[in-house]
Amino acid sequence: MKFASRLDHFGEEIFASLNEKKLELERQGKEIYNLSIGTPDFEPGQHIIDALVDSAKDPASWKYSLRDLPELGQAVCDYYLRRFGVEINPDQVMSCYGTQEGVGHLALALLDPEDTILLPDPCYPVFQAGALLAQAQPWYYPLTKEHGFRIHLEDIPEDVARRAKVMIVSFPANPVGSTATPKMYEELVSWAKKYDVLIVHDNAYSDIIFEGGPGNSFFHTPGAREVGVEFFSLSKSFNVTGARISFLIGRKDVVDAVRMLRSQIDFGMFLPIQRAAIAALSGPADRVKEQCRDYEKRRDALCRGAREIGWEIPDSGGSMFVWAPVPPSYSTSMEFCLDLLNKAGVLCTPGSSFGPHGEGYVRFALVLPPEQIRRMLEAVKESGVLG
Ligand SMILES: Cc1ncc(COP(=O)(O)O)c(C=O)c1O
Repeated sequence: MKFASRLDHFGEEIFASLNEKKLELERQGKEIYNLSIGTPDFEPGQHIIDALVDSAKDPASWKYSLRDLPELGQAVCDYYLRRFGVEINPDQVMSCYGTQEGVGHLALALLDPEDTILLPDPCYPVFQAGALLAQAQPWYYPLTKEHGFRIHLEDIPEDVARRAKVMIVSFPANPVGSTATPKMYEELVSWAKKYDVLIVHDNAYSDIIFEGGPGNSFFHTPGAREVGVEFFSLSKSFNVTGARISFLIGRKDVVDAVRMLRSQIDFGMFLPIQRAAIAALSGPADRVKEQCRDYEKRRDALCRGAREIGWEIPDSGGSMFVWAPVPPSYSTSMEFCLDLLNKAGVLCTPGSSFGPHGEGYVRFALVLPPEQIRRMLEAVKESGVLG
């Protein structure tokens, strides 16, 4: 059978092939330091687990939910006001099963074939996948070292800006670890107004930020609510990646369009998960802040520790990732990743898997405690991969 041609865009997942190699080494009894995937090793708060369990004990919770509970929309609005000082209305909020799924559905709701969408390069993969599923035309704006891995609007030619319909931005950024500046967002908002481009901000790492913090909402920027929507995932702030909870927030016409698409193919989020989300959003914030400091200790152990052994990895400004240059003796990031895994037992992700501008770098996820990161660096040093 010939399956839909939209599948032709997608090959074997990069993480799968590296994982196979890792399993082979583990079978040989080798110790593996796995820093390849951004799944937090921290735990969700007990109040979040309790809310889910309590709700799951009620048989009424097992019906189709059909829509978001009003208390859920309100909890998001209260959180935004408390945490970011940003006022939004419940009708500007829609839950989705993670930003991953939300980005895919957003692209289907907003883009026609041939519409132009601007995406970062390197890019969190679903940004591209959503665009390709919608058969839209991605145009990649580079995030380069020269501009601090931030948006450099001058790189976008006038004709591209004129035809662009949507632009996805995300800071603190995966994979490059850069953070936004208020000035960058202010310029982005005027640019979006000038060219009538919808800005989609993915705010996955607003609570994991070491520079220019505390992390904020894009809507904190004057004028942003007229030009943008924001994905706000609970995955990383609250360590609930498996529960799949995120929100699309902002311009009502856009939220309504995505809701319309979703309503054709979806019967709503499981009620116990909605209850867990309410508990997360209205519960204590101290663990979220403490966790950011824990990530910072890991960032310091990795970046400073690497520099001490002669590997010039700059400090990551935010996100749970570190973007490390490939040592000059290797010609590709994949070649280096395989050698690092074979010789040091360290698993990371080749930068090339995030787009052409990712070549020359590898990404480490900060998912091990500082002591283990230090041991990992010992293994790197002894392996001789740094030359
Ligand atoms: C930038 C970015 N957006 C979204 C996600 C996924 O979020 P969710 O779990 O809400 O799908 C990730 C996960 O790594 C991410 O790095």
